[in-house]
Formats: sequence, structure tokens, C-alpha cells
Amino acid sequence: MELPAPLKVAIDRQLERTPLAELQRAAALLSSRYRAELRDGRLHLDGELAVKAYLATRLPATYAAIRASLASAAELLPDFAPATLLDLGAGPGSALWAAADCWPELSAACLVETSPTARAVGEALASTMDGIEHLWIAGDVTRDLPALGPADLVTLSYVLDEIEPVALEPLVDRLWALTAGLLVIVEPGTPAGWRRILAVRRRLIDAGAHMAAPCPHSAPCPLAEPDWCHFSRRVARSRLHRLAKGGEVPWEDEKYIFVAASRRPAETVAARVIAPPRGAKGLVTLKLCRNDGLAGERTITRRDGAAFRIARRLDWGDAMPLDPG
Ligand SMILES: C[S@@+](CC[C@H](N)C(=O)[O-])C[C@H]1O[C@@H](n2cnc3c(N)ncnc32)[C@H](O)[C@@H]1O
Repeated sequence: MELPAPLKVAIDRQLERTPLAELQRAAALLSSRYRAELRDGRLHLDGELAVKAYLATRLPATYAAIRASLASAAELLPDFAPATLLDLGAGPGSALWAAADCWPELSAACLVETSPTARAVGEALASTMDGIEHLWIAGDVTRDLPALGPADLVTLSYVLDEIEPVALEPLVDRLWALTAGLLVIVEPGTPAGWRRILAVRRRLIDAGAHMAAPCPHSAPCPLAEPDWCHFSRRVARSRLHRLAKGGEVPWEDEKYIFVAASRRPAETVAARVIAPPRGAKGLVTLKLCRNDGLAGERTITRRDGAAFRIARRLDWGDAMPLDPG
């Protein structure tokens, strides 16, 4: 997945004249803090270099994960056309760009972010967007937030791993209360990220939310550790991204997990593909999370006719339609 061209241009402008060695050092520090899920009272994005390193090395991946999560929800909510977005822990605005790309109807966004540098950079990037009013607010999502109005779409991406676990449930309650249409929460696709999303999912189902994606049901998650649910998106790496990270290949695979909870029921699907499909001549084996609340592998062969024609086109993360025939 590629970033929208205007975002790429705006990021390049932010990064020009930043010495590569400084960017590399900041990228290495940021990466080690994220890997350790460090909570030492300091913000990861606490200065200009850290935010620049984020733009160069993390935003392409978080954008891809958010965009893919929104696409999965949009597919099953075809009438949903949000005009307003509320994004918490916005960073430099990854979710704003992903939402605007997914729903061209979006016309106004409110973005809450605690780091002044991330806010300033996010605002500069967003000022290059056409047709969207954007308001950036200072706020700590774990404390009393400034008076916020509800929005059609509410997003929280890659933030839960930076806040204290005890803050999770009150935050989810607050976000759901502010959601007029759809709430999407995205996390890294690690076992810990999945556990946080499971806690969010349970809380939202108890509050009466409808699962839009990825889960095709509201029953308890059928997966048990050491298994965990996650998806993956291949992300193009720019030259600077490669240089800043010291990577060789022009792409990376971002693993992510998300939950999309809707005020209205989403379209029903038979299942979600929750692992890379395995194929051989005349057959495909899919690991499915099914709408009856169970998960497991299913092998579909050419003899299954229409079901096989559909199944062999499905990829990891896709929804399997009802009654493929
Ligand atoms: C990993 S970045 C994610 C940024 C963006 N949402 C994305 O997906 O690219 C996490 C962001 O959450 C912000 N953040 C962390 N704790 C926060 C809090 N308690 N209140 C508001 N923002 C917070 C950080 O400053 C940072 O910008």
C-alpha cells in the first residue's frame, strides 16, 4: 500500500534538510521504545526529531493498517458515509488521511493529541488537504478531555499500547459515547495488541455495539493463546524510509489488529479469513473465523464449484460472502 500522493509530498517537505544520521538515530530510539512498549512517563513523540522519525519510518505502516481496517468496515457498511471524524491520539494525523481516502464525504475532523510537536506537524500536513476542516486539540485521552462533540466516525490507532491498562475501559466507554456511527480501534498485530483489542471488543459488545469487522459475530473470540488474531499489509518503503531504518528491501509487512464497532448492524458474512490461504492445484485451505462463532480450517476443492471460484480469490483479512454456492 502506498501513501496518498499529497501526503507523500507534504511528508517529504517536512523531512527535507533533516540530516540522515540524526533521523537514523531518532528512528532507532523510537523503534526500541515501541518494541519495549515503554511507559516511563515520557512521550515517544516528544520532540521534532522523534516526530520526523515517525513520519519517515512509522506513519506509512500505521496509515496502511488504518486504511485497511477502515476498508474492511466500509465493505460491510455500504451506506455509511461519515461527514465528521474524531481521532484521539492523532499523532501526525495518519487516521485523518486514511479516513479521507476511504470516505470522500468526510468534511470535518477534530484531532486530539497530547504531544505539541506531533500536533504542529499533523496540522501542517493536514493544511495541504483539500475540503476538510480540521481542528487540533491538546488533550490527554486518559484524563478529562476537553468538551468534545460526537462524530460519525471515531478512531484510536496505535494508542492503547501507550496508556496504562487501567485507563482502557473508561476510555472505551467515552469513545463509544462519542460515536454516532462507527468506532475503529487499531493496534499492533502482536499477542499483546490482540489482548487489548479483545478487552475493547468485550466492553463494546456489553455496551450494545454491533461488530462490523473483522469479527463476523459477537460471540466470544474462538481463538486461544498461543494463537492470536492479526492481519498484515505490505507497505512500500520510500528511499528515505529505507535509509532511516537501515532496511534493504523496498517494502515491509505491517502486522495489525483492529475492531470496528457500529451503531447499526453491519452486513452478515459467512466468515473472515484469519491467516494466509494455502493453495495447491485444485484446492485452497482457508483458516476462517465463522459467523457461528467458531474458527478453524476449511479446505475447498474444485468440486465445490462456485465456492471454490470465490475461495481461491480470497486473501488473508478478506470477508467470505454468505452462500458462495
Ligand atoms: C504511535 S502514535 C500513533 C499516532 C497515530 N494515531 C497513528 O496511528 O499513526 C501514538 C500517539 O498517541 C499519543 N498519545 C499517547 N498517549 C496519549 C494520551 N494519553 N492522550 C493523548 N494522546 C496520547 C502520542 O503522543 C502519539 O502521538
